[in-house]
Amino acid sequence: PEEVFILAIESSCDDTAAAVLRNDVVLSNVVARQSIHEEYGGVVPELASRAHQQNIVPVIDVALKKANVTKNQLSAIAFTQGPGLMGSLLVGTSFAKSLAMALNIPLIAVNHMHAHILAHFIDEEGFDKPEFPFLALTISGGHTQIVKVNDFFNMEIIGETTDDAVGEAFDKTAKILGFPYPGGPLIDQFAKEGNPKKYPFTKPKIPGLNFSFSGLKTQILYFVQKNVHENPNFIEENKADICASVQHTIIEILMDKLKLAVAETGINQIAIGGGVSANSGIRQTLKDAESKYGWKTFVPKFEYTTDNAAMIGIVGYQKYLHDKFSDANVVSKARIEF
Ligand code: KG4
Ligand code: ZN
Repeated sequence: PEEVFILAIESSCDDTAAAVLRNDVVLSNVVARQSIHEEYGGVVPELASRAHQQNIVPVIDVALKKANVTKNQLSAIAFTQGPGLMGSLLVGTSFAKSLAMALNIPLIAVNHMHAHILAHFIDEEGFDKPEFPFLALTISGGHTQIVKVNDFFNMEIIGETTDDAVGEAFDKTAKILGFPYPGGPLIDQFAKEGNPKKYPFTKPKIPGLNFSFSGLKTQILYFVQKNVHENPNFIEENKADICASVQHTIIEILMDKLKLAVAETGINQIAIGGGVSANSGIRQTLKDAESKYGWKTFVPKFEYTTDNAAMIGIVGYQKYLHDKFSDANVVSKARIEF
């Protein structure tokens, strides 16, 4: 069979990323993270798009060099169409269009959320691919969804957050504790040393498969304020236990809904995706669920969890095989139909 080389570009939020794939094999996966947002405690859209503008050419150059692939060998260009920040998406979209036009090769628009799910189809030693249909739990800074994945291009959201995303729950908790943005990875790190049962936070009582995380955030804020009032060193002295307890509560909320989703759909193959699936507690809990509940769980390779272009490339490859190309008039979409 023919060898397909896809250059993939991801610029939906604050990471500028490019990857080169040969069929479903990742040859290079380059990410330029933007540290500029740390001092603002969140992503500043205007700064993000400026940084993309500066990073995009060098990131793509490095991706091609690392893959040892020249522009002329490329079969198609895949890019993130949305969802995301408009100013950020525009940089990747415009670049992808221009390059595809210059090279006279097809252009492929990719939904970022599909990519977080389909990252599991990257050919990677030691990682199995799920079989359709399976359930995907996508957990990121912007999304929290349970998706029934029927096929590469046929998926339905069966549950989602009604307010904050899981990543926001982590990042806002981190902010309350005075950690720099994005604080999710720091909570994960400190939680490893702590007692997850030390501070029992209550879980939201929201019916069905939907999620809610804003109440937890408020609960943590009041809990911390009250304790710091009594002991100004409370956070410093109890950092590990607070982080472990918060993380434990978040994992329980996710697991409760997954159990319900398995019961309702009869599907017990679960794949996780999105930045929060980098969380070591979540990864372990999902692995344990195999023996505990008889599920088959799929936890992606670490570098394919947070935003990256390899996941855009694997969707690009599947779309290439199915002739799902875009014309040059395709536009970025901050919000996008699933
Ligand atoms: O998918 P992603 O890179 O970007 C979005 O599309 O949102 O996800 C970023 C989110 C952030 O909220 C970050 O704090 C969270 O993923 N995150 C983590 C961990 N690593 C990244 N949250 C908890 N534990 C981690 N280890
Ligand atoms: Zn993402």
